[in-house]
Amino acid sequence: MENATLYERIGGDEALRLLTDRFYDLVFQHELISRLFKNDKEEIKEKQRLFLTQFLGGPQLYSDVHGHPMMRARHMPHTITEDDAVAWLQCMSTAVGELPIDKSLKDELFDRFPRTAFFMVNS
Ligand code: HEM
Repeated sequence: MENATLYERIGGDEALRLLTDRFYDLVFQHELISRLFKNDKEEIKEKQRLFLTQFLGGPQLYSDVHGHPMMRARHMPHTITEDDAVAWLQCMSTAVGELPIDKSLKDELFDRFPRTAFFMVNS
């Protein structure tokens, strides 16, 4: 497993389905950031699962379906503040914390998000 990707080490697709299910349940009920999510929950969950698969070193599923990720550009239609990024990260931290994996692996996984989340801030 030494050369295994983070995607493989956390448990691949099964883990990402658990993660995105829990994450968007938290996001859609969050007092600050639920306002941003007006579209179908299952659809965004699926997009995030495809994206995180490739973000964590797995197959390029998101790009195959949706083209170049251009994540910052795709977030531009939404007004995202620093507080929103913090809230997003809190939801992600909770969801990661509930995965059935070791603490050190949870930390390694969560560490992948703060930089990207603050990169999405556009307001
Ligand atoms: C900084 C806090 C963030 C906020 C408030 C936010 C908010 C949003 C919103 C409102 C959408 C559109 C949802 C919809 O179509 O219903 C979206 C889409 C998406 N977000 Fe974020 N996001 C954040 C950070 C991130 C981060 C860090 C990632 C990746 C690690 C990410 C990945 C995605 C993906 C993959 C989509 C779907 C893009 C598409 O194909 O349309 N977001 N986000």
